[in-house]
Amino acid sequence: MQIIDGKATSAQIKKEIAEEVEQRLAKGLHRPHLAAILVGHDGGSETYVANKVKACEVCGFKSTLIRLEDSVSQDELLAHVEALNNDPDVDGFIVQLPLPRHIDEQAVIEAIDPAKDVDGFHPVNVGRQSVGLPCFHSATPAGIVELLRRYNIPTRGKNVVIVGRSNIVGKPLAAMLMQKGEQGDATVTVCHSATPDLASVTAKADILVAAMGRPGFITADMVADGATVIDVGTTRVPDASRKSGFRLSGDVDFEAVAPKCTAITPVPGGVGPMTIVSLMLNTLEAARRRD
Ligand code: GUN
Repeated sequence: MQIIDGKATSAQIKKEIAEEVEQRLAKGLHRPHLAAILVGHDGGSETYVANKVKACEVCGFKSTLIRLEDSVSQDELLAHVEALNNDPDVDGFIVQLPLPRHIDEQAVIEAIDPAKDVDGFHPVNVGRQSVGLPCFHSATPAGIVELLRRYNIPTRGKNVVIVGRSNIVGKPLAAMLMQKGEQGDATVTVCHSATPDLASVTAKADILVAAMGRPGFITADMVADGATVIDVGTTRVPDASRKSGFRLSGDVDFEAVAPKCTAITPVPGGVGPMTIVSLMLNTLEAARRRD
């Protein structure tokens, strides 16, 4: 059984990005610039955004963080989005999700200029991805595909089962893995809360992706011997033994499932760091397009 080390892989990719940034600067090209809008003080979102800012430093990018209070109105938030759309110094930006309930998340996503949508959430990028055109790929699915590629885990002709149909993981990952090509060509099944006898479907997976946000949900009986298991879950579970008071839990019962697998991602240190590195790759691509 092999542990798929997203932390080490992401560190290697950040090194590659930093080298390209150095080459860009030596040629007189501009330093890539990522901006992020963070609304409110949700602990998980704070951590994600802090990690994105840190990754920018490691990659040699400029970063800008715009913090807004929970009470911000939709119009104020949209005005910030518009300002970033029009800022020639910004290559790409993200609005960290989730947003407070009084804000229409989809309206905010649709207000982002698709050319600066380095999260790949705008319907223009989603649509371009689904028909196989150049686009900004959604960061978590792109990170998973890159992990499989770097670990030489083929997808061609394989049964991939994805549990979870979210707009930011399940749906775009299914679209990527079913595309023609070396990193696609899989037979993809997407399961969700209305799937009957889920275990009978997951047990047929060569590659099983758990992305529903339910700690420890995937148990050993749901996994085929020799499967590759990708765990996207990162739920904060109360843990009094930790200084922080919580630990991150994946959607897979790692201790029980790992011995059955050919390869498996841990939580933390699996998919999470790859999501951030995909965002860096999208930002670098946005900068290249604006050269
Ligand atoms: N919230 C959870 N994951 C993400 C992500 O990849 N991008 C943004 N903007 N918000 C998120």
